[in-house]
Amino acid sequence: MQDYLIQQDYSLYTKDQHKTWFFLFKRQEKVLKNRAFDLFLDCLEALDINEKTLPDFNKTNTLLKSKTGWEILPVNGFIPSEDFFGFLADKKFPSTTFIRDKDHLDYLQEPDIFHDIFGHIPLLANPIFAGYMHEFGKKGVEGLRLGYIDYVTRLYWFTVEFGLIQSPKGLRIYGSGIVSSKGESIYCLESPEPHRLIFDIVRVMRTDFRIDEYQKIYYVIPNLQELFNIIQNDLKPFYDRAQFLGDVKDYILITEDKLTY
Ligand SMILES: [Fe+2]
Repeated sequence: MQDYLIQQDYSLYTKDQHKTWFFLFKRQEKVLKNRAFDLFLDCLEALDINEKTLPDFNKTNTLLKSKTGWEILPVNGFIPSEDFFGFLADKKFPSTTFIRDKDHLDYLQEPDIFHDIFGHIPLLANPIFAGYMHEFGKKGVEGLRLGYIDYVTRLYWFTVEFGLIQSPKGLRIYGSGIVSSKGESIYCLESPEPHRLIFDIVRVMRTDFRIDEYQKIYYVIPNLQELFNIIQNDLKPFYDRAQFLGDVKDYILITEDKLTY
């Protein structure tokens, strides 16, 4: 029984909750200007996700489905990894429906609707990124079955959640964990502290991460097509290579690392 599956009862949202959404949306819109990947902002608009009200999943789904066949699946929080990747393989993105408390706007113990919808849904309107996520779901299920959960999780973490992308205008953000965080949106591009490395799938699989602090490493993809191309390969040789070489500490550079600047 999948007891985490729920409905979004839109009528239950309070005025205050819509206000919290408005605040978060406006604040992030300002921060993301010249920092987020243009396509992310275009997709946000194309799906009519805006500051005015909390997103109504039914309405967003109509637009999203018509573009790429994806849909939002309302859930109440934690989902087992196997189910999560299974949903992606079925073009369903699980999203929470609750919004953070207005007194704790920047501290989140678990993802809320702002992270899930503002962060994850826009790029699913793009066929190439949607294709990556679909294929990721299939590869995720397979990777779990083969016993490579850590490598699958790291690949998800450093691309879907915390990925950076090269663009003609410079380095830009596309990862959901970053675009939905005011602090990390600035830190990931402007702080001298983290390393920004050219994406290398085996390197990513060898990199552990922390969930309770800003990243020490970001991986930069050249474009979305590259990401889509790599996920279509058989990932087993990459898992094996990563296992053979072993983990690298997240703050140590290794000889084959290529910095983006
Ligand atoms: Fe996320």
